[in-house]
Amino acid sequence: MTKKMFASDNNSGIHPAILEAIAQANDGHVPAYGSDLYTEAATRKFKEHFGESCEVAFVFNGTGANVTGLKAMVRSHQAVICTDGAHINADEGGAAEGFIGGKLLTVPSKDGKLTVSQIEQHLHHIGNQQRSQPKAVSISQCTELGTVYTIDEIKELTRFAHENGLFVHMDGARISNAAAHLGCTLAEMTVDAGIDMLAFGGTKNGLMIGEAVVCFNKDLASELKYIRKQGMQLGSKMRFVSAQFERLLTEDLWLENARHANHMAQLLAEGLVKFPEISLAQPVESNAVFASLPRTKIEQLQKEHSFALWSEERDEIRLVTSFDTEKEDIETFLADVQMIFS
Ligand SMILES: Cc1ncc(COP(=O)(O)O)c(C=O)c1O
Repeated sequence: MTKKMFASDNNSGIHPAILEAIAQANDGHVPAYGSDLYTEAATRKFKEHFGESCEVAFVFNGTGANVTGLKAMVRSHQAVICTDGAHINADEGGAAEGFIGGKLLTVPSKDGKLTVSQIEQHLHHIGNQQRSQPKAVSISQCTELGTVYTIDEIKELTRFAHENGLFVHMDGARISNAAAHLGCTLAEMTVDAGIDMLAFGGTKNGLMIGEAVVCFNKDLASELKYIRKQGMQLGSKMRFVSAQFERLLTEDLWLENARHANHMAQLLAEGLVKFPEISLAQPVESNAVFASLPRTKIEQLQKEHSFALWSEERDEIRLVTSFDTEKEDIETFLADVQMIFS
């Protein structure tokens, strides 16, 4: 058994029930490109969670889900407003700009969240032919700093965005962790709160591979399948992505996995704050813990454990828990922390 890591939930394996669903889907020949019963069943599950009128497009990865959804909203002379730390801006190799041709207009954020007044700052040049025209806002739920927007915060953003002719995209790579934290349904945080387009995360919550674009705005839905194909995100053997989602969204496996990961992060944070030299850099609201500690101690810990040095400037580390993190993993880590501080 290899050692668990806190580097990323992407480093985890596949949940056994998901692996079983893949094996069960491996039965004979079925129509390709999503015209199969597994995709129909998975789409039905999404509709149970988000309502009958949503449009679902299964894709391979989170970058693909974000860019496919954004491209349905924004043309090349238009722009998306997001935080500077948004995954679409900081960690997708310029995929959004490269694929859409439009611009990302960023704002700084200490807690990963975007505010109405920050959106407003980018609206002063509407109608100016020299400027990229804002057409969408993108928020991440959870944010890249592990924080979670409340439903009221999302509603405030969507109301303002819609009043100003902007669509709202949600990067929900860890949406299940956010729902587990808020104790709300997936719909309450998205379609009911005014989100137009969602990238629904699967890989970070126990899937082998696969994310879904979920569109709540009828005007944006019709182009999705063409954009997905052109973006090389249309899987021919789609049944193996769909079968995973069908299982994830059955018997609340999505919630169970996310709750577990969040709980592990809480345990980790509770253990860390007992050390006077360690302070939390963000409230722990999902499956990530951001903490500051002396650099020499970070280096000592890194000899035994895998995690990210998030900010060299602030000596801040990021520890990410997963559906398969065990209490013993936390205890081992905390015991090593204890050792280096004693
Ligand atoms: C918030 C967020 N969005 C999107 C992605 C992109 O996912 P992928 O690496 O599958 O393209 C990630 C990946 O870590 C992420 O953390």
